[in-house]
Amino acid sequence: MEMIRSGADTLDAVVAGVNIVEEDPDDDSVGYGGLPNEEGVVELDACVMHGPTRRAGSVASIRGVKTPSKIAKLVMEQTDHVMLAGEGAARFARAYGFKEENLLTEKSRLAWLVWKRSLRDASGHNNWTDGLDAPLKPTARLKRMFPDVNDELLAYAWDRAIHPPTGTINCLALNTKGEMSGVTTTSGLAWKIPGRVGDSPIIGAGLYVDQDVGAAGSTGRGEENIRIAGGHTIVENMRHGMSPKEACLDAVKRVARNYDNDPARLAKFDISFYALRKDGEYGSATLWSGTTKNGQVRPRQFAVNDGGKSRLENCAYLHERR
Ligand code: GLY
Repeated sequence: MEMIRSGADTLDAVVAGVNIVEEDPDDDSVGYGGLPNEEGVVELDACVMHGPTRRAGSVASIRGVKTPSKIAKLVMEQTDHVMLAGEGAARFARAYGFKEENLLTEKSRLAWLVWKRSLRDASGHNNWTDGLDAPLKPTARLKRMFPDVNDELLAYAWDRAIHPPTGTINCLALNTKGEMSGVTTTSGLAWKIPGRVGDSPIIGAGLYVDQDVGAAGSTGRGEENIRIAGGHTIVENMRHGMSPKEACLDAVKRVARNYDNDPARLAKFDISFYALRKDGEYGSATLWSGTTKNGQVRPRQFAVNDGGKSRLENCAYLHERR
């Protein structure tokens, strides 16, 4: 917001905004410290769209770079392509001076190892744990496996092991000249198959910006968003007269429709959409009203700053989490 106020381009501002979290080792949902794939390697996805020039850039499954949003912007600005993936994206980043870095923090490595050691085959066996001579309860076994790790960190790692998150940031901006931009960045689904790409780097799914109408993006289970091309769907909904909130709710309903609106199947995942219209109206909608933590339901929220203090607002939702 400081950059937008001082006249910076909206794309520079949103990328700088998400860079703060991408570079934060304590955030395990994007960039450095993001939870890794099933082999313990962090693979990141990101894309950007610049409203005024109507250009886009994207990287998928990139390794060794903390800030994939910067590389997506470079793809947009410096190449005749829109999307680079995997090794090619990493080599492109090196060509622009980005050093190869280890993105796995001790915290995310621990969460990965706890996940790996908690897996079982059909007969309940795992080669990464001690075997027949370990008749301990899962928590006691964990404590024995990781004797030097404190209880709080172990509880965090166990929670991540059994609830693999799809944390992501989608950031949309509009300035007083009416210019818009957006970025989406993520480390994707924790423990994914190497090479799995979610919705975040896909223009039209994880992000879409049309300077004439507005912008939209998503967080949550990317597979569901890809199947409805959520970002583009929401912008088209707004083009045809829906408010940002209605447009996001319509996208959520399309996701639910793909499961015949069966709450039991929908309960297995969550997904949220965000939209900002060219006139400044904004909204968000999510599949479930909230997340459950320690037996409490916390509402799904999104962050807004319209020039003053930042605040959190509740998302509209399709189903109430009880
Ligand atoms: N929405 C992030 C992902 O599914 O990878």
